[in-house]
Amino acid sequence: MAEVKEESKFYPPKEFVEQAYVDSREQYESMWKQSVEDPETFWGDIASELFWHKKWLKVNREDFSKGEIEWFIGGKTNISYNCLEAQIKKGKGDKVAILFQGEPEDDVVKLTYKEMLTLVSKFANVLKKKGVRKGDRIAIYLPMIWQLPVAMLACARIGAIHTIVFGGFSAEALRDRILDAGAKILITANGYWRSGKNVSSKANADTACDLCAAQGHTVDKVIVVKRLENFDVPMKAGRDTWFEEELAASDISDVCPAEWMDAEDPLFILYTSGSTGKPKGVLHTTGGYMTYVYATFKYIFDYKDKDVFFCTADIGWVTGHSYIVYGPMCNGATSIVFESVPTYPNPDRFWQIVEKFKVNSFYTAPTAIRALMKEGEKWPQGRDLSSLRVLGSVGEPINPEAWLWYHKYIGGEKCPITDTWWQTETGGILICALPGAWPTIPGYATLPFFGVDARALEPRSSGDQPAKDVPVNEQGELCIARSWPGMMRGVFGEPERFFNTYFVQQPGFYFSGDGAIRNEDGYFRLMGRIDDVVNVSGHRMGTAEVEAALNSYTTAVAESAVVGFPHDVKGEDLYAYVILKSGVEGSDALKKELVAHVRKEIGPIASPGKIQFVSGLPKTRSGKIMRRILRKVAAGAIDELGDTTTLADPSVVDEIVKGRQ
Ligand code: WT7
Repeated sequence: MAEVKEESKFYPPKEFVEQAYVDSREQYESMWKQSVEDPETFWGDIASELFWHKKWLKVNREDFSKGEIEWFIGGKTNISYNCLEAQIKKGKGDKVAILFQGEPEDDVVKLTYKEMLTLVSKFANVLKKKGVRKGDRIAIYLPMIWQLPVAMLACARIGAIHTIVFGGFSAEALRDRILDAGAKILITANGYWRSGKNVSSKANADTACDLCAAQGHTVDKVIVVKRLENFDVPMKAGRDTWFEEELAASDISDVCPAEWMDAEDPLFILYTSGSTGKPKGVLHTTGGYMTYVYATFKYIFDYKDKDVFFCTADIGWVTGHSYIVYGPMCNGATSIVFESVPTYPNPDRFWQIVEKFKVNSFYTAPTAIRALMKEGEKWPQGRDLSSLRVLGSVGEPINPEAWLWYHKYIGGEKCPITDTWWQTETGGILICALPGAWPTIPGYATLPFFGVDARALEPRSSGDQPAKDVPVNEQGELCIARSWPGMMRGVFGEPERFFNTYFVQQPGFYFSGDGAIRNEDGYFRLMGRIDDVVNVSGHRMGTAEVEAALNSYTTAVAESAVVGFPHDVKGEDLYAYVILKSGVEGSDALKKELVAHVRKEIGPIASPGKIQFVSGLPKTRSGKIMRRILRKVAAGAIDELGDTTTLADPSVVDEIVKGRQ
């Protein structure tokens, strides 16, 4: 990362500051102080801006030594009610809630809060008719179409727990998630548009159901959205039905009262990669998550009633859950759901959408900015982007070059940029700039949100050592000292894994897995993952998961080791070192087979960018792979290999260096 000097601080424009909810660092400091010293009042006041069927008895209770967290204890509410009826009661019934832009330019669907309430109520009744009850898990494998928020809010309405599987995941990955969640109902589509072509979702859904059956689990019902006309898919009698026909059935009422959920009742499960081969089912609950996404959306995007919000993430990731659907709708905002990609038909599709719908807040990932930057500034310059007032970045550290381009060509040098650091586990944004409150520095996410007590700590070898902050401008382990309302509450079905993953490394703290430094102003700069997780195009991938996929190609692969390496557009890419079984020849054709196999096992996002066949891996005498060496070779940092004398066989390093791809 380029050296950034003191003078490269970017101050929010005066006009922005004048209308911002938080307009100075002092105001932030006093609010932050109250948020951590008196959460009862701070979060109680914010939660009171939402609707509660029954008020909580106590705001929170936590015990990090057991991994126990509760918020709004005893309170009863429903997030679907807050996203729908509560908005209509505030007079927003005729305001557009979900603004769908399909890939075809003229394919636009605008759904008001009232229309959403009707659709959601009907679909909730469809689910009930199929026997869905509070606590049941529903798998959703849908593309970016308006029916996705409808399905989510319908689940939430009746207390069913949704688990959304990103459309880019393969049938096998979908199977794993359905099985782990124990979902009996799957919601999918016949297909969707992708760069001018029709892609099927149903084919993967069918395969996943067959694969589940092979493991003794039946998916009873599959509800299929007819996204594409003239795109036939097989429908299995007794199991598969069309979404549209279900909604239109004469016995489906358009009224469905929201189920009053305990604040700590589960809302959704979202799978994410960890440092073992098996993805974690991150569990979020109702009241705290709702309050947190409501508050973060409002303050971080400085949301005002007239704003049109465009988050380019897929709803299959947490960013879409929190900042396309739940956060915006709890605030009564207009939120864009965009089906397609930034580069089709031209690399100005985002900017064209900003122009067309006069978007005010735009939220995207550094990888998208870098990809669009390569296409040249003529694309944004050809569009009217003057409606924009605030820009956001998420998913990975943003390099100053991309930051400056975003600031100049998209923000017209007048829009504050908020670089937002968070995770699937955190439910909402934890570290970011409040856009009217303090200057930003490219590459720095800056300060913790209200209620977030973030620290950069020295590594600890045992819990007996006291926690210690690293000195200013030195890298430490990013940890959080207390719970915040949107924090995950568990790993579905694996209680020990929750505790062991997040509360052991730094006893008394939530351990994020990221490295961070803090500068003299207390600003945080994120330094990337410090565990075996790689961030490819803002998507998190566990290297162990990719290794498991490679190793399952048992006809050729004996062993593998996967690491990340820097990539100029994706941020990081995957580099696989593969030991072949004896008698198997390494070839380009075999590399292609391996890539195809990983795509089948996990999905295209897990395809290794580089594969190197090796005869051995650098291991310690106790058999542990020294990944540090593999990472250095993959990055081309051959002169930084460090001490290799502790290896069982140091000569493998020479071979690996020579064969570097
Ligand atoms: C990991 C979480 C949060 C939604 C998208 C990803 C990295 C995320 C930033 C940022 C530097 C970032 C971290 C984190 N990350 N945002 N602004 N600056 N790094 O969610 O898939 O759960 O991944 O993404 O490494 O741990 P996720």
